[in-house]
Amino acid sequence: MNITFFNSKAYDQQFFTEANRDYEHQLKFLEVPLNEHTAVLAKGSEAVCIFVNDLANAPVLHLLKEAGIKLIALRCAGYNNVDLKAAAELGLKVVRVPAYSPYAVAEHTLALILALNRKTHRAYNRVREGNFALNGLMGFDLHGRTVGIIGLGKIGLVTARILKGFGCRVLGYDIRNNEEAIQIGIEFTDLDSVYAHSDIISLHCPLTPQTYHLINEEAIGKMKAGVMLINTSRGAIIDTQAVIKGLKSEKIKYLGLDVYEEEGDLFFEDLSNKVIQDDVFMRLLSFNNVLITGHQAFFTTDALQSIAHVTLQNITDFEQGNDLTNEVLP
Ligand code: NAI
Repeated sequence: MNITFFNSKAYDQQFFTEANRDYEHQLKFLEVPLNEHTAVLAKGSEAVCIFVNDLANAPVLHLLKEAGIKLIALRCAGYNNVDLKAAAELGLKVVRVPAYSPYAVAEHTLALILALNRKTHRAYNRVREGNFALNGLMGFDLHGRTVGIIGLGKIGLVTARILKGFGCRVLGYDIRNNEEAIQIGIEFTDLDSVYAHSDIISLHCPLTPQTYHLINEEAIGKMKAGVMLINTSRGAIIDTQAVIKGLKSEKIKYLGLDVYEEEGDLFFEDLSNKVIQDDVFMRLLSFNNVLITGHQAFFTTDALQSIAHVTLQNITDFEQGNDLTNEVLP
């Protein structure tokens, strides 16, 4: 099948080209993001392959349909950037990669927690400058601390298992019961209890209308003073302005982000020679207790191999009329 890739980087080209030896599709790699101006570039393909910040709203989907596209293949787990209702109305199928490596994201979550706690991001710079003073670098033992996990799906569960290994008490909140979580000793509770009792709160639920700005001023008000907040899920689950207020009042003592609600204009690009116009983002960067990575939690060789294979298999299944096990429905 002819597939146009939007927003593709050198690593996408490398991993998809390697994996495609088993599938033999025709791959066209574009660096531009998918939007109303670029959708027409898919002409000649039957499928588009898109990533987290490509825009697949109703007008874009109309343009893709006109260009002859039949399948939208997401090379990621989240699908909040696709208007699923519009896709269904247009007869466009949508597939995704529901699980590629929960370990990649869970381990990056721990990287943020450990770095923020022990301030390795600051220590790294100090030591390079010959500053071996320890003031300001004091951390706390993770052992015995309480961590609240919101969203106990694949990633939340792996994160909880790792934290259990550190000797943490793990509280969990999810809209669904999860037997596995209970078996490994996660204490299921409600959101207010997660907020009230957690020293660290880590977000692992998808971005939906229900989770949009879940972490707002009211939620922050219910949290323990000095809480550490970690988001490796989707940016808009956090109301960034409310979190900035929380940082200024020192209610939030540490913030670790791999995602940001306006990341579409920033992440995955080298902007080091440009003036960054997003004042909210720049305010976040001004706090020394905020650690931000640019949506890299998924970025391991294991995950990229898995993403490429599952995506190409999804496309082969569509081409051959097989059941679409990874279809996303409205
Ligand atoms: P999953 O579907 O296995 O788990 C999500 C869990 O969240 C489910 O148990 C679901 O019941 C729960 N949930 C849904 N709505 C909720 C709500 N309102 N409140 C509490 N819980 C709720 O998904 P998985 O694989 O664990 O991924 C979680 C999220 O991580 C994805 O939706 C995606 O946005 C994000 N992600 C981020 C990556 C990164 O590189 N930073 C990479 C991969 C995923």
